[in-house]
Amino acid sequence: MAKARNQVQEKLKLVDIVLEIVDARLPASSQNPMLAEIIEQKPKVVILNKADLADPKATAAWQAYFQQQGAASLALDAQHKSRLPQIDKIVRQVLKDKIARQYAKGLQQAKVRAICIGIPNVGKSTILNRLVQKNIAKTGDRPGVTKNQQWLKVNAEFEVLDTPGILWPKFEDQTVGTKLALLGSIKDSLYAQDDVALFGLNYLRQYYDQRLLDAYHLTSKDLTLSDPDLMMYLTKKTGLKEDYDQFSTRFILDVRKGRFGRLTFDQIPEGAPHA
Ligand code: G4P
Repeated sequence: MAKARNQVQEKLKLVDIVLEIVDARLPASSQNPMLAEIIEQKPKVVILNKADLADPKATAAWQAYFQQQGAASLALDAQHKSRLPQIDKIVRQVLKDKIARQYAKGLQQAKVRAICIGIPNVGKSTILNRLVQKNIAKTGDRPGVTKNQQWLKVNAEFEVLDTPGILWPKFEDQTVGTKLALLGSIKDSLYAQDDVALFGLNYLRQYYDQRLLDAYHLTSKDLTLSDPDLMMYLTKKTGLKEDYDQFSTRFILDVRKGRFGRLTFDQIPEGAPHA
């Protein structure tokens, strides 16, 4: 942990701006509070990546929340190249004073440098590769690997560090771990599949009940069952008799593959303004 922190801290000294990559389905749970501690006054843009998989309303609300916290944000589907110029645009916007100062000093060309930082699997490498239109090896995901830092040109005025900064998920928070497990962001073996599925079922009935009703052809009376009873009922209903493990595995895959539509598993903290 300390080593990862030091590595990120060292890299931060080299850049003008941080691109904090989070999973749009978990805008809070896929953040690491350590970044806020070490980033100090450095400008940042929160990139809500995998926005194609997240609930668009929730994404808009989270963007409003980040804005209210003073951070610029961008919802992104890094798999679509066409969306990437937005990163250049927002970086220029956030750093406009710095860029103006460089031109005022008589420089022919302003230069800004950025780093992608985030927990594993949020899409850092995908974004980096897309930004520079190359296939960069995923060396940065192995903590402890040190190599000379290199700058990759996005365009004449914008460079990114060739390896992302890796932070660790907030494993100490059980719910955060369960959410990350549900979306496949951490190894499946770390959490019991039935616990993860029970959490997912409970979340869907709380926030996306109609989607649960539609997917399994349920009546609203079925949703009065307790979570374990609902799981037993659905296991039987889907022809799996009493094989709760298999139902759990299927349910988790269904969530990840979008059977219930685009979902967001973090709610805006209470008291914060909504979009
Ligand atoms: P990392 O460097 O932060 O660890 O993440 P990486 O870029 O490797 O991305 C992790 C997975 O997420 C990759 O899938 C990648 O294709 C996918 N991904 C990245 N950005 C987006 C996005 O905006 N939308 C969607 N839908 N997917 C995205 P993978 O290599 O197939 O791995 P896996 O997730 O199937 O294991």
